[in-house]
Amino acid sequence: MKVNLITQESFESRHHGKSDAELQAMFKSIGVDSLETLINETVPAGIRLKNPLNLPEAKSEVDFLADFKALAQKNKVYKSFIGTGYYDTVVPNVILRNILENPAWYTAYTPYQAEIAQGRLEMLLNFQTMVIELTGMEIANASLLDEGTAAAEAMTMLHSVRPATKKNAQTFFVSELCHPQTIDLVIGRAKPLGINVVVGNHATYDLTNEDLYGILLQYPATNGEVYDYTDLIAAAHELNVFTAVAADLLSLTLLTPPGEMGADVVVGSAQRLGVPMGYGGPHAAFFATKDSFKRQIPGRIIGVSVDAQGNRALRMALQTREQHIRREKATSNICTAQVLLSVMASAYGVYHGPKGLTNIAAKINGLTKLFAESVEGLDYQVLNKNYFDTVTIHTEDNSKIKAIAEKHEVNLRYYANGNVGVSFDERKTIKDVEQLLNIFAEAGGKSTNINLKSEVEIGFGVGLNRTSDFMTHPVFSSYHTEHEMLRYLKSLENKDLSLVHSMISLGSCTMKLNATAEMIPVTWPEFGQIHPFAPKDQTEGYQELFKNLNDWLCEVTGFAQMSLQPNSGAQGEYAGLMVIRAYHESRGDSHRNIALIPSSAHGTNPASAVMAGMQVVVSKCDEKGNIDVADLKAKAEQYSANLACLMVTYPSTHGVFEESIKEICALIHEHGGQVYMDGANMNAQVGLTSPATIGADVCHLNLHKTFCIPHGGGGPGMGPIGVAQHLAEFLPTNAVVDMGGKSGIHGISAAPYGSASILTISYAYIAMMGGEGLTNATKNAILNANYIKSRLEGEYQILYTADSGRCAHEMIVDLRQFKTSAGVEAEDVAKRLMDYNFHAPTLSFPVAGTIMIEPTESESKAELDRFCDALLSIREEIREIEAGNVDKADNVLKNAPHTAAVVLVENWTKAYSREKAAYPLPYVKANKFWATVSRIDSAYGDRNLICACEPVEAYAEN
Ligand SMILES: Cc1ncc(COP(=O)(O)O)c(C=O)c1O
Repeated sequence: MKVNLITQESFESRHHGKSDAELQAMFKSIGVDSLETLINETVPAGIRLKNPLNLPEAKSEVDFLADFKALAQKNKVYKSFIGTGYYDTVVPNVILRNILENPAWYTAYTPYQAEIAQGRLEMLLNFQTMVIELTGMEIANASLLDEGTAAAEAMTMLHSVRPATKKNAQTFFVSELCHPQTIDLVIGRAKPLGINVVVGNHATYDLTNEDLYGILLQYPATNGEVYDYTDLIAAAHELNVFTAVAADLLSLTLLTPPGEMGADVVVGSAQRLGVPMGYGGPHAAFFATKDSFKRQIPGRIIGVSVDAQGNRALRMALQTREQHIRREKATSNICTAQVLLSVMASAYGVYHGPKGLTNIAAKINGLTKLFAESVEGLDYQVLNKNYFDTVTIHTEDNSKIKAIAEKHEVNLRYYANGNVGVSFDERKTIKDVEQLLNIFAEAGGKSTNINLKSEVEIGFGVGLNRTSDFMTHPVFSSYHTEHEMLRYLKSLENKDLSLVHSMISLGSCTMKLNATAEMIPVTWPEFGQIHPFAPKDQTEGYQELFKNLNDWLCEVTGFAQMSLQPNSGAQGEYAGLMVIRAYHESRGDSHRNIALIPSSAHGTNPASAVMAGMQVVVSKCDEKGNIDVADLKAKAEQYSANLACLMVTYPSTHGVFEESIKEICALIHEHGGQVYMDGANMNAQVGLTSPATIGADVCHLNLHKTFCIPHGGGGPGMGPIGVAQHLAEFLPTNAVVDMGGKSGIHGISAAPYGSASILTISYAYIAMMGGEGLTNATKNAILNANYIKSRLEGEYQILYTADSGRCAHEMIVDLRQFKTSAGVEAEDVAKRLMDYNFHAPTLSFPVAGTIMIEPTESESKAELDRFCDALLSIREEIREIEAGNVDKADNVLKNAPHTAAVVLVENWTKAYSREKAAYPLPYVKANKFWATVSRIDSAYGDRNLICACEPVEAYAEN
């Protein structure tokens, strides 16, 4: 036997490898002779790429990780005292290993199928409870993208709930002591909505301004000062002006919460609760408000309801507020948020409990006090009266301090006026205070003889000391030992179905493999422990990563430039539309404000267009699911003078490569519009065609779909945008870091590179796949979808296909006829799939009463077959009802999912067997996943809204 000593094991073969025999069987089922034939029949010749992708050669896992470590080490991990909303933190190892590094948590999807998501729903309810109690508010959501965007959401929500007396008011005041990135973001978001933002001094601003509807304050302020806002908020309320406060959660263990000062909204970041800085993200932001605004809160809220057995069960509440449903009437476009990170912050709260959190905060405050008092002894002036973790020190010129600090690998905050900011965090110790004092002493030419005391007295002025209890629910005092915590986390994990169990064929969501080698670098300190505003010369590793990723994504999309800032698909949409808006404005075309959007578009498209100040005009789709070109033509002509853009998803959300796409893009250009391509389905394009080839001007890429970032139970994600050359000058900037286009729009995310630390995942995927591997992934995604289609056809109706009869990477299966024939609804099929160990495909999008199946390339033939077997078996179960052999109301579909408690009941009274209920096919018996609650009654939960952990008595009653 000859051995090749050069060849390394290819990553690609692990990502989507299939044997020849499997491929031949799949071709036979589909009715093609080869993969090339299938691709030629599926992807229109007119849009195919002429050349293969020009990307670096694929690396093996071993080589990649070694090379990437060398790149990571080009980042210098300095001690950060920069603050400004980002703090170093200690991630408890039990949380690091069992949540952040655990595929059972990070590969789960948004908990749309709540019966198999009770674990993360419970942790999110804990998060909401912790936020509500720390802020002193009545209701909170289960995360937003970052503090800056959360503040912008507060501005828009308060605008939409203005009282009648303020119905024409358009001014929103922002304290100049908010973090700079927050101020920039709020200004950017206000512009297209016609809101006038005034930035100034909160102590002197005239609240009687008739046009004023709301104000935003920072607590503690960006310079570290802790103000008592009680009187200011009361005065604002007297004048029917709302107040939002951006607050630091950890500080609220010691300080009077904004809710007790009367605030209407409290927002902020939960980063420092055990989530690494990651050069800007991902971290969870929070949004807490008054109960009266519950229907206007942006983002997802978790609520308590009951299941079919009357037991307590959790699910996402008030879903009718979601942009999917509200579309152009939505006031926010939040879809993917930061679920995994809010789960981590929540677990941090559970692990430390109220006492532990208070101790951490007290120590931080004590170190700050020790430093402040000692630095004054070195003749520096501390400008703060009250402070929690941050002080500002007056200096005329901070360059000397900066030089000495950097020599000691220490980063401080340097203000343009010469002042220096110093922020403490959980990782800092008395030794760090000593080091800082040495730095300040050296800069001041003083000799030091430091002998620091090990105890200080802390406390704030009257009215600022927190007196109320918080986090009193037993969940925050039961899991403080590692064993208890480990078992609690495991018990929650066991309730959730994720990719570690079976394929999740969510159409439009792309639940592909999130390979371990892609995930490992995320938790390397060289990526995790870097502050987003660290000097560029300390982040060479990140800069190289950004440059390469930018170039690779440009090659894949055919565009000239990317912005890696938007941290979700919807943020990408908003960013792209704002770029288009800026482009039109630069040409004197500010009147161009019509966004044409096909009826099949995802709900975030119209919501983003409205946020970008555009008016949405919906164009029709034909009976094949394609854009109705005649209708589009008529609308483009009708709105020609004011046409801003078309938003188009390609291949369409109906799972078809529309042949007419080039013609459609040319039509929009003829009328002076730009083409925005929603890149959610990019995994059907990579290496075969590209957004630039079809004629788009800008698109976002959901890196959490096509490029392997896991969904994390509903986030994090990344939604970078690519643009053609003429739009590059308008790409987003950042308030602190010099970046973006020369006429760039305001920041889209608070951090310059959004959730920078997870860009490593997409980087790893591309580096290990190479151009050919990526192209093969696309072909395999199309192959897998068409294989499922071939197996289901005849038993189920596939709603839309191309003229060739092929689907793209996903397909819609029509279930509407079963309502008439058997009283079975799409939801029944979704819930019954749980009994077969499967998560349902996407339900009722883009067509009500259907399921949209997307297998992705990285599922094996064996798994595809199990899934098809399950759906075919369900078809037989429907047939039994159709034939009248089984009751229409009492059957395996209507009663699904069957929990262990239901099946193990003493007296089994159903007309079908326990075996049929729980083990419908042999493979299930060998490896059963049990739903932990029965079908949930969502309407009950919305009528009796509870969005925090209930008192213990509620469990007792259950
Ligand atoms: C077609 C489409 N567009 C946009 C989005 C929004 O992306 P994100 O959830 O990352 O905000 C989605 C999300 O599922 C989608 O399917």
